[in-house]
Amino acid sequence: MKKELLRSFSRLGGVRGYQGTRSKELKIEGIKHAIAVASGKGGVGKSTTAVNLAVTLANKCQLKVGLLDADIYGPNVPIMMNLDKKPEVTEDKKMIPLENYGVKCMSIGLLVEKDAPLVWRGPMVSSALEKMTRGVEWGSLDILVVDMPPGTGDTQITLSQRLRLSGALIVSTPQDVALMDARRGVNMFSKVQVPILGLIENMSWFKCPHCSEPSFIFGKHGTRKTADEMGLEFLGEIPLEPAIREGCDEGVPLVMSAPDSAVSKAYEDLAHKVVKRLEIMSNEEQTQPEIRL
Ligand SMILES: Nc1ncnc2c1ncn2[C@@H]1O[C@H](COP(=O)(O)OP(=O)(O)O)[C@@H](O)[C@H]1O
Ligand SMILES: [Mg+2]
Repeated sequence: MKKELLRSFSRLGGVRGYQGTRSKELKIEGIKHAIAVASGKGGVGKSTTAVNLAVTLANKCQLKVGLLDADIYGPNVPIMMNLDKKPEVTEDKKMIPLENYGVKCMSIGLLVEKDAPLVWRGPMVSSALEKMTRGVEWGSLDILVVDMPPGTGDTQITLSQRLRLSGALIVSTPQDVALMDARRGVNMFSKVQVPILGLIENMSWFKCPHCSEPSFIFGKHGTRKTADEMGLEFLGEIPLEPAIREGCDEGVPLVMSAPDSAVSKAYEDLAHKVVKRLEIMSNEEQTQPEIRL
């Protein structure tokens, strides 16, 4: 399976038509695909999904993976990936990403004091993002997973355009208010012509520790229905699972500490779907009829 995935993936970016269009516009050299993990709101599990997905892509799919914590307001990747050193700088003044669990990481949280308030004003946002993207020696990567800040404002739009994203993955919890924000997220990416890879439902259900029955705390199948209504792919569901939260807090993602658990399998399934989706999209781009003038 791994080999098959790797083979299919090596075709990504190697397709002539594809090279000729999107990847030329990529702002960061050496990165085949930058994908955003986003949602309209905070607290739904973007960072958790981004971290577990990145680690799975690196370890189960054997891809070269980077993780950019673009949440300049509340960077969580350093804790979740157990990183606390300041990045070194190369001679040409590029920061060297820190690596853990096979993933190269960069976060504004590595550059500022731990509890410092992060107040960004207009132009500072742009320069911080510039530093975090082109100012980093990423090397060659198959996928850069971008943990986006919550919301659908200027920062998110600037980031989407600057990174020339291959696609965006929208995370939502099942309740209506979260789904409303997920829809906003989808619409924002559509406005800046970033394809949606699909919707993933986080905190879908909770296994009751007393009777072991699933409990649908935030409602049932909300994200699947929303994906259907919007004509988007539904990429699966991740349960509300204390071990996921513990893994985040301790800096050992669950997919590392329990790689064979049901939850890790769900992340693996998500990773495979993302790779497949990127492949389909690049093939579609390749078969687009040429416009002749
Ligand atoms: N599936 C899950 N099960 C249990 N806890 C989760 C799950 N997903 C996220 N969490 C926890 O919920 C909190 C918010 O998640 P986080 O990934 O930081 O959200 P966001 O990045 O969208 O703000 C964190 O404490 C995280 O550990
Ligand atoms: Mg976050």
